[in-house]
Formats: sequence, C-alpha cells, structure tokens
Amino acid sequence: MHIAILAGDGIGPEIMDQALRVLDALNLPDLKLSPALVGGVAYHAVGHPLPDDTLSLCKEADAILFGAVGDPSCDALERHLRPEQAILGLRSALGLFANLRPAKMLTALSDMSALKAEVAAEIDLLIVRELNGDVYFGDKGMRTTDTGLREGYDIMSYNEDEVRRIAHVAFKAAQVRGGKLCSVDKANVLETSQLWRDVVIETSAQYPDVALEHMYVDNAAMQLVKSPGQFDVVVTGNLFGDILSDQASMCVGSIGLLASASLGEGTCGLYEPIHGSAPDIAGQGIANPCAMILSAAMMLRHSFGLEEEAQKIEQAVAAILDNGILGADLGGQHNCQQIGDAIIQELV
Ligand code: IPM
Ligand code: MG
Repeated sequence: MHIAILAGDGIGPEIMDQALRVLDALNLPDLKLSPALVGGVAYHAVGHPLPDDTLSLCKEADAILFGAVGDPSCDALERHLRPEQAILGLRSALGLFANLRPAKMLTALSDMSALKAEVAAEIDLLIVRELNGDVYFGDKGMRTTDTGLREGYDIMSYNEDEVRRIAHVAFKAAQVRGGKLCSVDKANVLETSQLWRDVVIETSAQYPDVALEHMYVDNAAMQLVKSPGQFDVVVTGNLFGDILSDQASMCVGSIGLLASASLGEGTCGLYEPIHGSAPDIAGQGIANPCAMILSAAMMLRHSFGLEEEAQKIEQAVAAILDNGILGADLGGQHNCQQIGDAIIQELV
C-alpha cells in the first residue's frame, strides 16, 4: 500500500499529521508513505504548484492522501501557477472523475447544524460530483469586447461519455444505499444540463431498481435546507457539486467533518477533505482533523478494501464527537492534536 502524502497549504499539514497518527495506530502491515510538495508550498519551494516529481509519485502510488491547497499570497499569480491548479491537475491527469462526498447527521451534533435539529436529523446522503469536466475544464480566458470592455469567459460543456460514466457510478452507489437517485442540473436554461439529463435518463434503463428523479440546482439548494432527508444519492456536475457539498456540510454541523474520495477508471484514488486550506486559522493547531481522518478511512475502504478498518475509524470519530470532543468549528475547545489523541484512544 504505497500512499502519496500531499499535505499542502494552510491547515493541510496539521490535519495530515493527525490522519497519519491514526493510520499508524492501526498497525497496518505493508504501508509505505511518500510525502511530496503540492500547492502554494510547492510553488514557493520549486516554482510550480504541481511539480513533476509530485505528479510522477502520484502516478506510481496506490492512493493519494491530500490535505488542502490555497494560499492568499498566490492569488495574484497567473492562473496556471495558483495552488488550486494542483488539485485540478491531479484530478485531470489521473482521470479521477468520480467524487464521492457523503454527509450524515450524527445525533450528538444535531444542535450544531445550521438547520433546525429535527430537519437535520434525517440527513444521510451521498453527493456524487463529476470531477473532470464542466466549466472547470473548458476553455477560459480574458478578452476585450468590441466596445473595449474587459470580459472573462469560461466554457461549460459535457460530452455524453463523461455524463454516462458518472451516471453509472451514481446508480451503482444508489443500489447499495437507499435505492434513490436525484440528478441535479439546470436543464431549463443550459444545453450542457439538457444533455446531462438525457444521458442520465438513458442510463437509468439499466437500473430499474433505482428510483430516479431530476431537480434543478436552484431547487436542490432550497430542498437541501428545507427537507434534506429526501435525498439519498445526488449526482451532479463539477460546479454544482462543489457548491452543494459545502452547503451540505453546514447542514450536518461543520465543513470540518466532510471527507471525500475521488476515483477513476484506474486503481489509484485520491482522498481529501472537502474543505480548503483555511489560511485564517492555519498554524494555530485548532483545525478540526476529522474530515482528513475520515478521508483516510475512505482510502482504506475504496483503495485497499479494508472495510473493517475504515469502519473502525468512522466509529472512533463518531464516538469522540458523541463524547463532546469538539473543535472550535463545532463550538468546542479541543485542538487538532487533542482530537487526534481522542480518536486514537478510541481505536486502541
Ligand atoms: C473542492 C475545492 C476545490 C474545487 C478547489 C480547491 C479547486 O473547493 O474540492 O471542493 O473547487 O473543486
Ligand atoms: Mg469546494
């Protein structure tokens, strides 16, 4: 089990430390960890957010554990040199097109939800976000209009193969969950979304056991706070999935809790929290490492088939939250290290 360890920027290194301590506590045999530079730290060290060395390491590794990228001191750089391009570059270079973002309300945290406790109590959903296409990867640039105005543009597009493969992932996920799939688009306005909807409907013929519905993204954002319990699996494009998953995180208490797995047709997966580098709190040791640690659990499950160990970690995280071991993001006083300690204590 060769794992590329990319801690990245901001709180990335702090939360990664805790995830590695948790993995260590499991005493897994045959674990090889290879740290490498990524994001703003890589730019400052070697002039590129995704150095060649890092990319080749990731191509060789069996899995990638990824912290966070984003550094305000890089905001004025040309876009291809910005830290965010590292994660986009990895997703694209490794063909990681399927991003799984589960969100579940833990009973112990029901008062922490941005929603009323009784509304939030029902949340147990999985967002399947397409990760290799959409407006993220289309042609983009700055130009000047005929009348001399500055104009920015980003092309949004999906081809049918891209939609079909993510639809299959989502239908299969629904089959082993609650049997319900909600496809989110903006087909009332966008051609990209019309194609998306058509292809999802075509694909549904192979999954008669899954109940499929379609929802416009604006309505989905509203339904997610009105009655989130209606969702089981949600499948959507890159941009809508980015937005809805941050929203879902606050519905279950904190963005510091949501993990993700990015998978492709190859065997290598990338595992990262859905949150960013949080420069405002970086270096203070107060970040919540739960999302990072839960991402390591997803890695054990999806890349290494270690379901039992994955569940152990997930249960340990649930148990410490249950015991009131909460970070500042959840109104508690425990720091990053203490949360890591508590999780490890649950494990041994
Ligand atoms: C995420 C992040 C990234 C994205 C950024 C860091 C490029 O917000 O993983 O949700 O937009 O996909
Ligand atoms: Mg995001």
